Amino acid sequence: MKFSIFATAMLIGRSGAALVSVSNFGDNPTQLQMSVYVPDKLADKPAVILAMHGCGGTGQQYLQQSGYTKLADEKGFLVIYPTTTHDNHCWDVASKKSLTHDGGGDSQTLANMIRYTFTKYGVDPAKVFSTGSSSGCMMTNVMMAVYPDLIVAASCYSGVAAGCLAGSPGASPSTADPACAAGRVVKTGAEWAAQVRAMYTGWNGTYPRLATWHGHADTFVSYLNLEEQIKEWSTLLDVAYVKNLTATPQTGYTEMVFGDGTKFVAYSAEGVGHTVPVHPQEDLKWFGIA
Ligand SMILES: *[C@@H]1O[C@H](CO)[C@@H](O)[C@H](O)[C@H]1NC(C)=O
Ligand SMILES: *[C@@H]1O[C@H](CO)[C@@H](O)[C@H](O)[C@H]1NC(C)=O
Repeated sequence: MKFSIFATAMLIGRSGAALVSVSNFGDNPTQLQMSVYVPDKLADKPAVILAMHGCGGTGQQYLQQSGYTKLADEKGFLVIYPTTTHDNHCWDVASKKSLTHDGGGDSQTLANMIRYTFTKYGVDPAKVFSTGSSSGCMMTNVMMAVYPDLIVAASCYSGVAAGCLAGSPGASPSTADPACAAGRVVKTGAEWAAQVRAMYTGWNGTYPRLATWHGHADTFVSYLNLEEQIKEWSTLLDVAYVKNLTATPQTGYTEMVFGDGTKFVAYSAEGVGHTVPVHPQEDLKWFGIA
């Protein structure tokens, strides 16, 4: 399918800002669709958030679900809402291609969308963020692992550790090896870290900051996967568990603080299933978008 650049007739912000479809963002080895929410008043050297839908979703749908529009209008940041139509609209978090830096998979296509915003909108490379729900959270873990040179910080709702589905025949509920979602892929922090480092062997810098959220009552993507993400990212970011903050940011939620709390935190949501609702204000605080 060929798309031309056009501002969809769909008007979203009260201000009349629009979700813009982009076809010429660069190499698109996995035929993903890019759309970007551009507020009327873009900040100088703006921030960009790559915001990824769950299985079965679309960029348009995730724009509604995630609720960043009003904040984007206020603060002048961009939001990339990509869409995959493959594998039941689930992101490829399983193939060797996608789990390799510039390996020709979904992760590379998404990286090219980010790179496009540098030239097109003058995005500040120090303000590149990734987030997503469910499959989009799994893909956020993958983007952090495969493109630590691009992603500065991330938040993530109800996903799994980068590499959890490595080698699985697919990444959707009907095509994936079920062991990962069931919480049966269990590794040490050192094992996860080695797997992540092998995805981009040339990388010797730091990994992105992460705030990850999971519902304790999640039976679809097991809560056990929160612990695996904790092992993975606390190892890569070299931070140890320090304390719990209960009723944070709201009743029923517990924030687990690692190190000084600036690199990695994990939120456990009591009684919450799949998925934890997006917390846009908390995300912006974590990203440092003022
Ligand atoms: C990291 O990699 C860059 C680019 O290859 C290199 O210039 C730099 O010396 C490396 N730094 C360390 C600490 O190894
Ligand atoms: C911290 O909170 C998590 C999630 O509720 C819980 O599993 C863990 O046991 C708590 N740790 C401590 C030391 O209280």
